[in-house]
Amino acid sequence: MNLNNIILIGFMGCGKTSIARALSKRLGYYFIDTDVLIENYEGKEIVKIFAKHGEGYFRDLERLTFTWMKGSLLNSVVATGGGFVKSVSELSPLGKVVFIDLSLEEVKKRLDIKETDKRPLAKSEDLKQLFQSRYRLYKDAADIIIDADEKGIEEILDEIEAAL
Ligand code: S3P
Repeated sequence: MNLNNIILIGFMGCGKTSIARALSKRLGYYFIDTDVLIENYEGKEIVKIFAKHGEGYFRDLERLTFTWMKGSLLNSVVATGGGFVKSVSELSPLGKVVFIDLSLEEVKKRLDIKETDKRPLAKSEDLKQLFQSRYRLYKDAADIIIDADEKGIEEILDEIEAAL
């Protein structure tokens, strides 16, 4: 069954949310953000969910969100949280999986202090180690890989559209 969904994966700060929002506009699709779904479901910000219940609980919520999306979404562009691939390795039943591949150097530039305040793992773990351990998961899960370094959003959208 072709659900016509596009799922963006990649590390924190790689631009998934901005790209998903712009791509959904361009294609006339819905825009979905898994972190927002989870925050609404729990009635709490991500950072508070981590602080109160821990990472394992958050990952369970990501799996629950995936199950809900699989049964509910059509014609949607989905921005996932950076660790979504840890919770659900097989994303393809939901749609085409696009890895936004931004180098660690660029990621670091984009994760400013304000942003890391909203991202518990950007603060509490060695970013390089986390980046390296995630990289293979993104590559393995992806149908399409977009090298996002030194590219503007329009160029990234063009590349995604051409590869769909
Ligand atoms: C996480 C990334 C965050 C958010 C949570 C955990 C991760 O999403 O889901 O803080 O494990 O990498 P963004 O990639 O949108 O920052």
